[in-house]
Amino acid sequence: MDQRFYITTPIYYVNAEPHIGHAYTTIVADVLTRFHRLMGYETYFLTGTDEHGDKIVQAAEAAGTDPKSYADRISALFRETWPRLNIRHDDFIRTTEPRHVRVVQHILQKVYDKGDIYFDTYRGHYCVGCERFITDRELVDGKCPDHDTPPVEREEANYFFRMSAYQGWLIKHIEQNPDFIRPERYKNEVLAFLRDPLEDLCISRPRERLSWGIPLPFDERFVTYVWFDALINYVSALDYPDGALFRKFWPVAQHLIAKDILKPHGIYWPTMLKAAGIQPYRHLNVHGYWKINEGKMSKSRGTVVRPLDLAPTYGLDAFRYFLLREMVFGLDANFSEDALVQRLNADLANDLGNLFSRTLAMTSRYFGGQVPPFGDPEEPEDAELRHLLEQAVEQYQKEMPQLGFHKALMTVWDVINAANKYIDRTAPWDLAKDSSRRGRLQRVLRTLLELNKTVAVLLVPFMPETAEKMLFRLGVARNALDVRLDRDAVWGSLREGGAVEKGEALFPRVDLKKIASDKPLGKKDAPAVAAASAPKATRETPLGVQDGLIGIEAFQRLDLRVGVIRAAQRVPKSKKLVQLTVDTGERRQVVAGIGEHYAPEELVGKTVILVANLKPARLMGVESHGMILAAHDTHGLRLITTDAPTAPGSKVS
Ligand code: ME8
Ligand code: MG
Repeated sequence: MDQRFYITTPIYYVNAEPHIGHAYTTIVADVLTRFHRLMGYETYFLTGTDEHGDKIVQAAEAAGTDPKSYADRISALFRETWPRLNIRHDDFIRTTEPRHVRVVQHILQKVYDKGDIYFDTYRGHYCVGCERFITDRELVDGKCPDHDTPPVEREEANYFFRMSAYQGWLIKHIEQNPDFIRPERYKNEVLAFLRDPLEDLCISRPRERLSWGIPLPFDERFVTYVWFDALINYVSALDYPDGALFRKFWPVAQHLIAKDILKPHGIYWPTMLKAAGIQPYRHLNVHGYWKINEGKMSKSRGTVVRPLDLAPTYGLDAFRYFLLREMVFGLDANFSEDALVQRLNADLANDLGNLFSRTLAMTSRYFGGQVPPFGDPEEPEDAELRHLLEQAVEQYQKEMPQLGFHKALMTVWDVINAANKYIDRTAPWDLAKDSSRRGRLQRVLRTLLELNKTVAVLLVPFMPETAEKMLFRLGVARNALDVRLDRDAVWGSLREGGAVEKGEALFPRVDLKKIASDKPLGKKDAPAVAAASAPKATRETPLGVQDGLIGIEAFQRLDLRVGVIRAAQRVPKSKKLVQLTVDTGERRQVVAGIGEHYAPEELVGKTVILVANLKPARLMGVESHGMILAAHDTHGLRLITTDAPTAPGSKVS
């Protein structure tokens, strides 16, 4: 396996300020880089800004300034944003830098000398937003579908790159390297595009029309088309052709983009590389679009979400976690602050925060804050938990390099949830009452401490600050960048007798009901939401710490609904199980263990209360989507119902 890793983000146009879309791509690149570091790879992470072309000239004019000053200002904004999101890139390239201009001209000359650039006249539809001529086929209702504006007709004498000559090669390359473009849907999209003959690419603009660009080395009357210029950043930043960085990292190059710029990256760029005699990149990783409240992000509608408004409100790590957990890589996702708050409270404050604080609190209480020895031999429930963790570590290592971030996180959370249940089941507070069970108590707590440590290691790429804090409090003082999976996630590596630190809750809960209108939220109609950052609020009793009490949030995670039973039948060969069709606005199949108390026929028409967000389960081969509530006493079991007819689907709270 190659022990090097090189990732790039798009270089962003300096015509807009950084928003959540830019932040997502750049955070993904950071997570991938940190993951590969964790695995011991030598890594290189490049981002930057794209500063030439019509768009920038227009934006500068609108801002009442010249392109260079304008580009300087916005580029600086991007550059300053990334470290504040805990993004650690190795280089930040600007297309106006001499090191870049030099390489663009070098490559142009090389391709020109080879005969793959020629002079010709072209007439067609030009979209200013796309900065390119677009084909008839691409138009929707006579407009560019991406910009919703009609293109302008243009005729121009220009230089053309003989892209068509590489069409056959590109198709073959994509077919022979199935993960060249991934996920697969985007590979298919590119291949579908390549089914029609490829036109040559116009790569120049007459200087009299646009002077803000890189002059063609073989004809000073023209500047370079912005895409031909911009794509080259990926090699100019590595000092192509002779740089050591180029030699080291180009062979493992991976690009990260969203679907909006698939065509330049999936078609222009590989053919440009081929023409220039440079080997193709390894992977093009393509993600979907963030939508805001189900719509497109739009300045005029005030739905541009600015990452720096959010991160301080909710915490940087929570923000990073949310982005990576919520979006299935490759598909669109919806951003809302409600969803963010929900994940923060449920996954971070409750599941993870709770596991960590319970583990540390009990270590403090029962072992004076020192890592206990392993104690008694492992029992089946300990081994089961340890195996689950081992499997998660394996699954995580499989998912991460192939962009399965949400899956990797889900497997980590399976472990976290299993560990919380393990605490409930082993009830260390009971073991502590009985001195003959000291060895068992040691085993349970040591198991939990080791598990928390490995969880922290797995979270390093996503939430570097939190992971570092967790490790530190477990007695492992290590900078997040120096954590290594093979060294730091070893079972038993915690030092026996080492001090652990109880500390505060990892994630303060965010209280949706605490309205604070003074928070800048980056969108007009955002719910006013305040972080419960005041020290008092963070001290709220963590959920179920020891006395079996839960917070209201835990209860609110239950989706309880009114349902009406429309059909009922016994599950074959079962005395207890009845298969129900319950109407909750939609029909769902539920299996209930009430067959000894009710005959199927008396159930039909009854109003019941259903736990609607229960994980589907299979009972004697029959799928069940929910659980109905019942009360038990010595006389038997009675279904819970409402005291007057209630609409199916009504929420119970
Ligand atoms: O296209 N959701 O720059 P750009 C997810 N300069 N990601 C989004 C997004 C959204 N709603 N909006 C933007 C350019 N992005 C060229 C690139 S590269 C040689 C030249 C992210 O500023 C996503 O990564 O329009 C997308 O591909 C990129 O920003 C486009 O940035
Ligand atoms: Mg764009």
